[in-house]
Amino acid sequence: MKRTLLCVVVVIACFHFGFMFLEAFAWSTQFVRSLTHLSESAARETVGVGRNMALSNGFLGVALLWATFALREREAYSAQWVLLSFIVVAGVVGAVTMRNYRIFVMQSLPALVALGMSWLARPYARTEDQAIQQIIEIERQILAINAMNPRAIPETAKGAVPRGQHPKLLGLVEAKLIVADNLPKEMRVGVFKEPGKSYDAWIRYSNARNLDDRDPGGHGMAIKLFNVAAETESSNVTQDFVLFDSPVFFVGNPLQYVEFEEATLRAHGKSRSETRIAFLLNYYWRHRKQLKNLRNAQRSDVIDPLAIRYWSMTPYQFGSAVVKYSAKPVGEGAVPVVVERSKDMLREAMKVRLGRTDAEFVEFEFQVQVQTDARSMPVEDPTKEWDEAVSRPITVAHLRIPTRQPFDTEERNLIAENLSFTPWHALHGHRPLGGINRVRQAVYESLSEFRHALNHVPRQEPNPPTQAR
Ligand code: HEM
Repeated sequence: MKRTLLCVVVVIACFHFGFMFLEAFAWSTQFVRSLTHLSESAARETVGVGRNMALSNGFLGVALLWATFALREREAYSAQWVLLSFIVVAGVVGAVTMRNYRIFVMQSLPALVALGMSWLARPYARTEDQAIQQIIEIERQILAINAMNPRAIPETAKGAVPRGQHPKLLGLVEAKLIVADNLPKEMRVGVFKEPGKSYDAWIRYSNARNLDDRDPGGHGMAIKLFNVAAETESSNVTQDFVLFDSPVFFVGNPLQYVEFEEATLRAHGKSRSETRIAFLLNYYWRHRKQLKNLRNAQRSDVIDPLAIRYWSMTPYQFGSAVVKYSAKPVGEGAVPVVVERSKDMLREAMKVRLGRTDAEFVEFEFQVQVQTDARSMPVEDPTKEWDEAVSRPITVAHLRIPTRQPFDTEERNLIAENLSFTPWHALHGHRPLGGINRVRQAVYESLSEFRHALNHVPRQEPNPPTQAR
């Protein structure tokens, strides 16, 4: 198919060089006049117009060849679509305004055929497995580009290759997750089996993209629980909960995610306004409904990462139920600390909050929202918000982050850099669900492996905070 498409594109380009020749050098001949319906005298008077049209057709032919042969596969595909669509439209307008169907046949029809073939041969994933491979390939490129750009490396990474996503560490804190005492029986599953049970935890707070905390963006809260031996023989088994400060994801499924990743790659290194335009042109004009989710996820109101709510966005098994997780600050913790605006203001806010001596800990309620209706609360589409008025989140545990802990140290930062979180570090009873989560299984594994190999550090689950002190 690809080879035939190349031939068709070359033929279309040659047609345009043919049109160029006719318009530039044979404008007043009988043949061209039979197409333009111009009288001989009118044709002679409009030779200049013909030459200008010739130039446009010549440029279009060259652009088509350049797009097809000079660009990388996915860029060539996008450029071909733009140019071939122009040709189709120009052919239709020409046929209508000149009342000559031959213009449509000679110009629009071959371009329509090429568009169909280009779509059939599109270099984008058609299956989830292909999507996973393409996402890994693009994520690795993004990580490698960042690794070569000192300005893309957060100070806390100390020159090491940072994560491709969520590279900026705001702080790694030690915490305890304490299972709620009054947990209903049906909620006592997995790590929440035993009311009152306490687990040691690390929590990594991060910026999704920005190195400057003042820029609008998303924020992460990744929790790692230790000694979760419920369903396994091993004693040091971990359970991760990976959360974000927005309830819904901005891409619907794995195939769309490949397109989103390609847009991310194309926008890489661009200014904020250029990035917006690149995303709009490369992805969101086709997925307009999701744009609202992305906009909402670009938060500019966050001044204290310990005073905002985080969600899992994607669903998880919870015993026999299906749930989404969230972590909600409560008590004093829900009131943000205000510090001077600076590029590291979120870490500064955490320092103030965790340096306080009048409280023993900052607390989050760890909640689950149970799926009560498979249609309005879908598993496979994380862009749809599960209505909290229909299914109220239930507190299943309390996360307590002790104050007066020395989290702003080089040693902590190093532990944070070497950690790997993934939703698939999970007990079977809490396994991730849905297409986006299925993709994350191989992607997080592969990217963490790649990052650790580049940094020459072993990839292993860490010690609990109590042993790291
Ligand atoms: C197909 C979709 C997704 C892909 C391909 C993806 C990819 C990644 C990758 C490669 C990392 C870095 C992992 C590492 O190097 O150790 C990462 C980190 C992260 N992702 Fe995703 N992600 C996806 C969806 C999500 C969703 C739905 C959430 C919502 C909670 C999320 C939240 C996070 C967070 C919070 C981190 C930082 C974890 C840490 O602190 O180490 N991601 N993601």
